[in-house]
Amino acid sequence: MIEGGTPLEGEIFLHGAKNSALPILAAALLCDGETVLENCPRLTDVFAACRILTHLGCRCVMREHCVTVDVQTLKSHTVPETLMQEMRSSIIFLGAVLGRTGSCRVSYPGGCELGPRPIDMHLEALRKMGVHFSVCGGQLDCTVPSGLHGARIHLPFPSVGATENVLLTAVLASGRTVLHNAAREPEIVDLASFLRSCGARISGDGEGTIIIEGVKKLTGSHYTIMPDRIAGITYLGAAAITGGTVCLRNVHAKPLENVLPALEQTGCRLYPEPDRLHLLAPRRLRAVSSIRTMPHPGFPTDAQAIFMAMLSVADGVSVIEENIFENRYRHVDALVKMGAKIHVSGRIAVVTGVRTLSGAAVAATDLRGGAAMVLAGLGAQGKTEVRQLAHLDRGYEAMETVLQGIGAHIYRTETDE
Ligand code: EPZ
Repeated sequence: MIEGGTPLEGEIFLHGAKNSALPILAAALLCDGETVLENCPRLTDVFAACRILTHLGCRCVMREHCVTVDVQTLKSHTVPETLMQEMRSSIIFLGAVLGRTGSCRVSYPGGCELGPRPIDMHLEALRKMGVHFSVCGGQLDCTVPSGLHGARIHLPFPSVGATENVLLTAVLASGRTVLHNAAREPEIVDLASFLRSCGARISGDGEGTIIIEGVKKLTGSHYTIMPDRIAGITYLGAAAITGGTVCLRNVHAKPLENVLPALEQTGCRLYPEPDRLHLLAPRRLRAVSSIRTMPHPGFPTDAQAIFMAMLSVADGVSVIEENIFENRYRHVDALVKMGAKIHVSGRIAVVTGVRTLSGAAVAATDLRGGAAMVLAGLGAQGKTEVRQLAHLDRGYEAMETVLQGIGAHIYRTETDE
């Protein structure tokens, strides 16, 4: 429940990055002995990943923001359907289980709210490393009859998930893997850094070509997950849409480099320091003529909905182009219900800023779409009710508490069907 109209002000410590914690939890499977992960966010997707590790035979304990994973003897190489369905990105366990045991059975990950989410690039890449696939009854059976070996792989698109699966499969494979057109997201660098801390030999992560020299074994390490840059953008947006000011602690400006220019175009003033970032919003945001989502270092698709909420009340017309996912405008209806003027045609959304939105009852459609609705409610006049909070809980730790901490009139009620 949100009462909008209050300029937010205060300091926020960002939780650890969901999209870094998930692949790193999978990577822990590849390591002998104990892995300790600090700054792990308390999110339903992370709890689901821990359940998958436990199911596979690991001892996996989460206390506060620290997860300890001990891979003794894996007792299964199957990720059951129920657990696969719980977390959209569970396909990331494919590479880890294969890298560790040489076989894996996962249920074909269903599409998600953002579109079909195929895994053709994952399978094509792993096939080149010696993986054989067979599909029966919605299950994907993977074996490596002659062992995993390095390969030269070109991804048709710099897929984050496919890049991660190649890394997880290649670190213990025999020989060298060269991955061209790899994803460059900061979370890829965090995963590679974790794997290096366990003894992996990886270079070029964060660039277009990653080289992995297979090693015989990896040993668990003590590692700290990077801060969540998308949560950071979300909270910067909350201050921006309410004409407030916020200081993000424990954040590096570098992973945000692809959105800071767009934020400045809205009239926000940004003061980056080595370990924190201040934002000062104008009384009214200005429109941004063109936002086109692209693979990193382009504008991140995960920030698209958040910027759309902000631009809904900006002065002028903004044009957004969503180039990564097929169906990532599902939050538009809710924003229009709150008075936004948005016209969608295919990949293009034209946002004509209005003076102010008015509160309404809306339902989250997906993780970042739900965040956009919360931001719209914070900037709107009157009361907004956001339901289906399970979407938010997948990627934001105690979002309402964080926002209360910077002056938002927001609280969570129990009834959320
Ligand atoms: C990761 O998803 C993130 N999830 C997403 O964040 C993020 O939006 C996305 O990368 C892009 O940055 C996690 O890291 C857990 P992709 P992923 O493979 O790996 C198509 C959030 O909000 N594709 O780069 O699934 C795919 O359909 C989530 O935190 C294929 O066609 O993204 C999509 O259109 C949402 N075939 C595009 O590529 C494939 O084999 C990008 O997908 C793989 C992908």
